This record gives sequence, structure tokens and C-alpha cells, in this order.
Amino acid sequence: MTSASTTSTPAPVPASSRAASSPVHSHALGVDIGGSGIKAAPVDLAAGEFAADRVRIDTPQPATPAAVAPVVAKALSSLPSLAGLAEDAPVGITFPAVIQHGIARSAANVDPSWIGTDAETLFSDTLGRPVLVVNDADAAGYAEIEFGAGKGVHGVVLVTTLGTGIGSALFVDGRLVPNTELGHLEIDGHDAEKKAADSARDRHDLSWSQWAKRLQRYYSHVENLLWPDLIVVGGGVSKKHEKFLPLLDLRTPIVPAQLRNDAGIIGAASLAARVAAERA
Ligand code: BGC
Repeated sequence: MTSASTTSTPAPVPASSRAASSPVHSHALGVDIGGSGIKAAPVDLAAGEFAADRVRIDTPQPATPAAVAPVVAKALSSLPSLAGLAEDAPVGITFPAVIQHGIARSAANVDPSWIGTDAETLFSDTLGRPVLVVNDADAAGYAEIEFGAGKGVHGVVLVTTLGTGIGSALFVDGRLVPNTELGHLEIDGHDAEKKAADSARDRHDLSWSQWAKRLQRYYSHVENLLWPDLIVVGGGVSKKHEKFLPLLDLRTPIVPAQLRNDAGIIGAASLAARVAAERA
């Protein structure tokens, strides 16, 4: 694990060894940067839940690094102060792109000016405190592994998020393999997320069964490549899982995420606390 640096991508993290290094902090702050909203909440790290209501501010457009950073600062400063929240509570921030050692490396659904941006330095400088920046699906997946549908599951667990794009987070015995980007598998000549993300369902006005056919193609391909023990399906649409998960015929058990839209904030805060504890 490369957690000695403040600008390290959360490399593989063993959920199973959590008890061995108890977190220094009981609470941390999580921020979820999305295409339409920037959301922030303090997180109770033992319970894996928000310690207070989250705040949400519209994502500025265009969502360039210079425009987004002050909005993240504003979201955090709008949070009510909490007795359990230390001044130096860790901050974890999700971002919907490859984040390698703190640097954004892709921009499928975000402003292209992010590519090559040292997001951790940008946010650390703006907030005046160290932060951890992590891919949005990796953060959401980590929360599911720690507190949700993947908790205690050994072997290979794939968490996917169905939204504007398809995010993926791969865990092996609780260890994250970061930045898997399985939404961009090429299937039948197409970038998979363009056909099977929830945004494609909206864009093409697909019925649940029409969309499920696309998901079937996607998840069959993925399970034939990875042979996971469990697939967890997150993203906002997962709250309607009964409309499409029963229509899928896969050998791998496939279940809805439990933390849903809170997962990114909870996962980012938990990962930030974990890195801070390891550095302490
Ligand atoms: C991006 C991923 C992201 C996913 C979900 C994809 O287009 O490439 O980095 O995790 O969308 O937001």
C-alpha cells in the first residue's frame, strides 16, 4: 500500500485486516463529485452511515478543476459542526474518472481539462488539509464491501454502478484492485457503458426488459472474463432492482447495493480514514 504519500491512490486495501489498525478518527468527511451535484456529509466510521444530513450544491458548468474546487470547499464549510468531528478529520473525495496516485487520468463523462490534473493537490491546497481522491465506483464499492452487500464475502466481488456511465470496483478477499474501468469494455463494437448504463435506458427510452437484455449481454461478458463470486449492482437505479435484476440469467449471484447513493461518500470517507490511520 502506498499510503505513505498524501497523494496516493488507495491501492489494494484489506477490509479483513481493518481491526488490526483501528482508525485514529471516529468520523471522517466524504464528498461525492457528480455530473450534476457535489454532495458532502460527515460519516460515522464505525456505523458506516452519515453522522448528519448531507449537503448538496449543483456542480458548476463547465465543471473544470478551477470551478469545482471552491464548490467542494463551500459544501464542506456548509456542513453543521459536529461534536464527533475533529478539526483534522480525514477527507475523502470521489471523482468519476481514473484516479491514479491522486491524478485524474481519464474523462469519459467529465470535463476533459481534468486529464492530468493532480486532483489531490488541487483539493488539498483549496481545503488547506490533506485529502484522498478516489474513483467514484471504487469508493462506492469499498463502502459496500465494508458495510453493505459485499460485507464478509471472500473471493472475487465485483461492484458495478449503473448511472451516467458504468463504474466498476473489483475486490479480491476484500482488497480493492483500483481503477478497473470495466464500463469501457468493448462489447459488440461498442463502449459498453454507452449501451448499458442507466443513461442509455433514459436516452433510448428503453423498457425494463429491453434494458435488461443489454445488461444481460454486459454482465455475461463480465462474468465470463472475471468469474466473480458475487456481483453487486449500485447506482441510483439500483433502488428499482426488482424491475431488472430478476430478468438476468447469470451463473454469478447478483444483488443490489445496500448503501445506494450514500455509498460514494461513505466509501471515500472510510478510505481516507484508513489511509490516515496507516500514516499515523
Ligand atoms: C468512468 C469511470 C467511472 C464511471 C462511473 C465511467 O465513464 O470512466 O471512471 O467510475 O463512469 O461514474
